[in-house]
Amino acid sequence: MPTGTKGGSHPQGRQTGVSLSDRRLEGTMNLSKKDMLEIRDLSPEEIDLILNTAASFKEISTRTIKKVPTLRGKTVITLFFEASTRTRTSFEIAAKRLSADTINISASTSSVLKGETLMDTARNLEAMNPDIIVIRHSAAGAAHILAGLLKQSIINAGDGAHEHPTQALLDMLTIREKKGSIEGLKIAIVGDIAHSRVARSNIYGLTKMGAKVVICGPAMMIPREIERMGVEVCYTMKDALQDADVVMMLRMQLERQEKNLFPSLREYAQYFSLNRDNIRLAKNDVIVMHPGPINRGVEITSEIADGPSSVILEQVTNGVAVRMALLYLLSGGVK
Ligand code: CP
Repeated sequence: MPTGTKGGSHPQGRQTGVSLSDRRLEGTMNLSKKDMLEIRDLSPEEIDLILNTAASFKEISTRTIKKVPTLRGKTVITLFFEASTRTRTSFEIAAKRLSADTINISASTSSVLKGETLMDTARNLEAMNPDIIVIRHSAAGAAHILAGLLKQSIINAGDGAHEHPTQALLDMLTIREKKGSIEGLKIAIVGDIAHSRVARSNIYGLTKMGAKVVICGPAMMIPREIERMGVEVCYTMKDALQDADVVMMLRMQLERQEKNLFPSLREYAQYFSLNRDNIRLAKNDVIVMHPGPINRGVEITSEIADGPSSVILEQVTNGVAVRMALLYLLSGGVK
C-alpha cells in the first residue's frame, strides 16, 4: 500500500504510467510462487508483472518520507555468506521502505564460524518465524535447498555461478526504461560468462523478453554449448559491439576461477575492455551497463563507466525498486 493510505493494496493504482487494465497484467496480478530462485522458471508475463510493480514502487524512493506501511509486521532476514555492497544494502532499504523489520546476518558474524551448517542455520532462523529469507551463497543451489526445507519465502541473492535473479530483473527494468522495450534489441554481454551468475540470469530473462543476446569473451570463459540458451557467441569486441543497443560489461570472477584463465589483466583489458575507441561501433544511443563491482581499467575504462552512456548507477537505483516489488509480491501482492 505505497500511497500510505488506507484501502487498496496495489501500487499500480498511483500515477505511475502503468494501469491496472494493462493487458499484460490480465490474469497475472500476483506471483504464484513461494520463492524467487531463478529467472529460468519465470514466464515473460511474470517478468512483466515484477517490472511493472517495480516501476510503480520507484516513486516511493523519491518522497521526502520514503516509507509506506505495506509490509508492516513482516520480518525479512538477509543471510549473506558472500561479500555484497549493492544487493544486501538494497534489500535492506527495500524492506525498510515497505516498513518490514529487517535483520542482516553475514557469515563472518554468525555461528557458521563455529561450524554450524547451512541447514542448521536455516532451521534456527525458521524457528524465529521470519516471513522472507534472502540468501547469497557461494554454492550453486543453496537457495533451492532452503526453499525446499523452509516454509518461508526464499529469495536467491546470488548462488555461486548459477543465478542472480534480482540483478537480471533490475537490469531488465533499466533497459526497458531507457529503450521502451526489450524486444528486438541487440544486447552484448561481455566478459567472464562461464563464472557469471549475472550473465546466466540475464540470458534467460533477455531472451524470454525477445532480445537478441550476443555474448563475448575469451574462449576459455565461454561455456560449451551456450548457444543452446538462445544466444549468439562471438570472440571479438568488434563483433559484439557492432550496432549494439545495450552493452553489459562483466567483472572477471577471479574468486570462482580455479586457475587464471587469461595471461594477465593487462592483456585481458587490451582485448576485452570497453573504451572510447570500440564503443563507437555500437549504436549512437547505446547504453552501458555493469552489475558492479567494477574493476576500472580492466573490463571498462573510467571514462566510459562515468560517461554519458553509462546507466550503472541507475541500475543500482532500480535495484531498490525491484527488491521492493519482490518482497511485496512474495508477501501476497494484491489482496
Ligand atoms: N551486483 C551485485 O550483486 O553487487 P554486490 O556483490 O555488491 O551485491
